[in-house]
Amino acid sequence: MAKAVFHISGSTKPLRGTIEVRGAKNDILKGLAAVLLTRGDIAYTNMPDIEDVRRTLELLKSLGVQMTDRTTRVCTLNASHIKGHILRRDIAEQIRASIVLAGPLLARQGKVRFPFPGGCVLGKRPIDLFVHGWSAMGARMRLVGDEYEFSASRLHGADITFYKVSVTGTEAMMFSAVLAHGTTVLRNAALEPEIPHLADFLNSLGARIHGAGTPTITIEGTDGKLLEGPGQFATLPDRIEAGSFAALVAARGGKVKITSCNPEHLAVPIEILREMGVRVTAGKDFMLIESKGKLKPIDMIKTREYPGFPTDLQAPFTVLLTRARGASLVFETIFEGRLAYIDDLNRMGAAITICDPHRVLVNGPTELRGRHMESPDIRAGLAFVIAAAIAKGPSVLEGIYKIDRGYEKIEMRLRRIGVAIERKKS
Ligand code: EPU
Repeated sequence: MAKAVFHISGSTKPLRGTIEVRGAKNDILKGLAAVLLTRGDIAYTNMPDIEDVRRTLELLKSLGVQMTDRTTRVCTLNASHIKGHILRRDIAEQIRASIVLAGPLLARQGKVRFPFPGGCVLGKRPIDLFVHGWSAMGARMRLVGDEYEFSASRLHGADITFYKVSVTGTEAMMFSAVLAHGTTVLRNAALEPEIPHLADFLNSLGARIHGAGTPTITIEGTDGKLLEGPGQFATLPDRIEAGSFAALVAARGGKVKITSCNPEHLAVPIEILREMGVRVTAGKDFMLIESKGKLKPIDMIKTREYPGFPTDLQAPFTVLLTRARGASLVFETIFEGRLAYIDDLNRMGAAITICDPHRVLVNGPTELRGRHMESPDIRAGLAFVIAAAIAKGPSVLEGIYKIDRGYEKIEMRLRRIGVAIERKKS
């Protein structure tokens, strides 16, 4: 079967115009999982039309969740009658966020079975924090073949300290605690904006979650009573997409307005752009990026949990740093497998020294040359699109399903600001 590829013609022509940001993958996937804690209609808006949303809807459907009013970015779900406790292996293996469905399912059905969650290959990605949290809440774990099964006739509240900060770990325990018996305290919880957003949504349906957005979250459980609908989940704008567009405009040069975003969620990346000499005008829901392409290096970009520099923006900003005059260090502290794409950038003409599995030194400025490449994961895939758009000559990018997992029709939006990119059958 012919696979889709991107054909990208690089150029130095400044980008111009307006580009709109869609809803955030890592927000909507948790919002969709939350339906399993409810009965009554839940209306979703600003849903990005991406592969991971389609797969999650398929998983929910296989559990008996009813879907109505589906149009491109809107749908209504109803989970009054769900059946079973097994996440379909063929789908769950494709997306890491499948593990967040396990939290509500365990709490509601008393049992959940799932394969080792899939998604991007970013080093080890263990699930020990989930095992620890659910065990503390009274669940028993067993392996059924190579699948995990957790069961508990009644989950009870627990005092859970995460030894390291985990976004989906925090979300999964929050979900389970909502229906548990008694009070749960989560310590060293993640602070990403998706977490208070999810808590506010659950609270609007009757959950009692306090402190989301701080390191200590307290959840008073309902002892099995489902949350009542109707409810509304308006997906947050994708801060990673917005930050990636900003990196593209900064690297290629030009003047582009990025709309439907929330610059407050991008304080550190914006500061880095300004330090590099890019002009960023931030409004409530837009950013104007102006760059003449003459960029200063940065001592160090160190990925950190929110509100630090997001690991999901590390690859696009590394591409940007190939344009800066001087040496910049990039320190990836969250995932150990997230610098694997560097070899390809070097084959394009970048001068990046790999210091160790977590650190690279980007020497610039270098002129990148177009190549034939394969997208390694969602975020590095978009970084390759940026690299190809600023390179000299044409590039062909394979494996673009991985980009479609997280970004809605990216080529159509990029074309409007002046990137020469086409989706073709290979
Ligand atoms: N970790 C453990 N044990 C666990 C869980 C995580 O050691 O049980 C480790 C991870 O291996 C990693 C660190 O903890 O080293 C932090 O990972 P985290 O659990 O926060 O990542 P995640 O929840 O699996 C989410 C996003 C990622 C994003 C990270 C960090 C979703 C579905 N995924 O992953 O997004 O990079 O947080 O912000 O929310 C992406 O969208 O492309 C993506 C990878």
